[in-house]
Amino acid sequence: MNDWLAFPVQATMDEADDMRLRGWAALAAGRSSTRRFVERPVPEGWIEEMLREARHAPSGANLQPGEFIRVEAEARRRLSEGLVGAYRSGLPPREDYSYFPDPMPMILRRRQVAAAQALYGALGAARDDREARRAQFERNFRFFDAPVALVVTIDARMGAGCYMDLGMCLYGLMLAAAARGLGSCAIGALASYPGIVRDALGLGEGVSVVCGLALGHPDPAAPENAVRTARREVADFLRVVR
Ligand SMILES: Cc1cc2nc3c(=O)[nH]c(=O)nc-3n(C[C@H](O)[C@H](O)[C@H](O)COP(=O)(O)O)c2cc1C
Repeated sequence: MNDWLAFPVQATMDEADDMRLRGWAALAAGRSSTRRFVERPVPEGWIEEMLREARHAPSGANLQPGEFIRVEAEARRRLSEGLVGAYRSGLPPREDYSYFPDPMPMILRRRQVAAAQALYGALGAARDDREARRAQFERNFRFFDAPVALVVTIDARMGAGCYMDLGMCLYGLMLAAAARGLGSCAIGALASYPGIVRDALGLGEGVSVVCGLALGHPDPAAPENAVRTARREVADFLRVVR
């Protein structure tokens, strides 16, 4: 069913290649982060099915690092309450792993600000409207109220390369979701208070919290889902050295 080769039998190889290329290009370009969902549940079995597809991501030495923890019911309530409580109390974030450069070089800072402005602008939250921005940020810790909440973890002994491997699998999952008409948003903010995540989910100290993932059917009327972020020109990040 999920085999890309399962095209109509009368299609020539060229037609099949063309369909595959157009499908892939549209899928990649059409995905964007979804931060508001409708209540419609994700059909039973889809998460397993999507992970079966995402697991084909390559990984160094085929280590296939990382785990996806689906968080539901009481565990989800406990987790979100703990994270929101920490955020409201002003607890300084302390991720298990380093993400952004500190200080952020100006060229990157501009991209970061542009993405934030696109989101808060769509929500009508002015630059000095700290309460609106805080409320939006808090939604990270509730997985944007998505029907499916995943926590992504990795063995704490793994190095930077393994995070790259896991990222490929995560992107595969996001594209598998997009192919089904589902929206998703990776949530790095979830890694801000890893001790709280470990406590809420009963994870050991040897487990690093990488991020969260919200998944579900996008709310088509939500302004935050209409946000489209800019991308660098290829000429800006592809160099040829001879
Ligand atoms: C690993 C990772 C962590 C992210 N963390 C957050 C987050 O905590 N909160 C949020 O609203 N968006 C988060 N995002 C979404 C990014 O802001 C978004 O991917 C980026 O601005 C590009 O926009 P697009 O996904 O709509 O193309 C994250 C994305 C990735 C890949």
